Amino acid sequence: MKIAISSDHGGNRLRQEIMQLLNELNVEYVDYGPDSDESVDYPDYASPVANGVASGEFDRGILICGTGIGMSIAANKVKGIRCALVHDVFSAKATRGHNDSNILAMGERVIGPGLAREIVAAWLDTPFEGGRHERRIAKLAELEDK
Ligand code: RB5
Repeated sequence: MKIAISSDHGGNRLRQEIMQLLNELNVEYVDYGPDSDESVDYPDYASPVANGVASGEFDRGILICGTGIGMSIAANKVKGIRCALVHDVFSAKATRGHNDSNILAMGERVIGPGLAREIVAAWLDTPFEGGRHERRIAKLAELEDK
């Protein structure tokens, strides 16, 4: 599995923690920054991750900002993206099983690094359940064309 990851300044520290986790799990990833804590605009950093996942260059993406909200809104503007803002392990599993989410968003100012690690591990590990959820995913795609 190949992951794209980025943050804004508000998610920089948690992004470092999650990249460390990806290293420990031997998960391949490309880091789109930023390289410093200087204030940046989250849509600029959501863009390469969301477009990379939508194009198929990456299997999934991880986006982090202060709340996770700006990143999730930005990513969900890109056709083909199902970005889930998650701050608990139950939702991490459910959004993979039910929504086949292809990007995970989290807020560094909302949760601590320990819980974020558990969320990422669960999200990476949980397969899409298919079945009735396929129909709903197809309906999400229809909404993109309206
Ligand atoms: C930056 O201050 C903050 O607005 C951003 O990280 C994010 O929380 C936006 O949704």
